[in-house]
Amino acid sequence: MVDLMGITIGVFLTVAFVGIHLSRGQHWQPTEDITQSILAQRSITLSDTSFPEPMSRAAGAVVMGASVSLDSSTEAVDSTLEESSKHRPQDIPDTDARVFKIEYVKEGVTLEVKENQTLLEAGEEQGWDMPYACKEGSCLSCAGKITNGSAAELVFHDDQEMISSDELNSGYCLTCVAYPVSDLRLETGESP
Ligand code: FES
Repeated sequence: MVDLMGITIGVFLTVAFVGIHLSRGQHWQPTEDITQSILAQRSITLSDTSFPEPMSRAAGAVVMGASVSLDSSTEAVDSTLEESSKHRPQDIPDTDARVFKIEYVKEGVTLEVKENQTLLEAGEEQGWDMPYACKEGSCLSCAGKITNGSAAELVFHDDQEMISSDELNSGYCLTCVAYPVSDLRLETGESP
């Protein structure tokens, strides 16, 4: 009899508790999905990482870095190809170099000059006091004038920066970087 009462009371209390709980509701709200905002915030505040991270600045940096690196290496390859394909008379072996007759008008001497030698070097080998300063085609100290045609056709300039096309056509050259490609007459110490 006592057990039946206890069971009845227990069942009643359980039902009452569940009923009360259900009638109040849980008032639970699912947490807002903040994944995107967290990733966005991380992309602003995180320092660059070595691994790709979705929506992060690091990922962008990795991609941009790869792009820049690719561009630089492409430029490097281009410039290497350009360098290797560049005509450099000074690299022609003596045994293969053609020889031209260069008349140094003021000195009154005609020299045989190889195409791998500059007009300045050929004069210096004779012990002449040839004018020059930079020996890089960046000034006018070594300028001379070719009197039998255009310097653009009779010599090859290796990187001259000082003489205009018109001046080249008038015969002006920079003897320190001018390699003969033809017989010619040269007046040394003549600037445009
Ligand atoms: S010495 Fe300067 S250009 Fe020739």
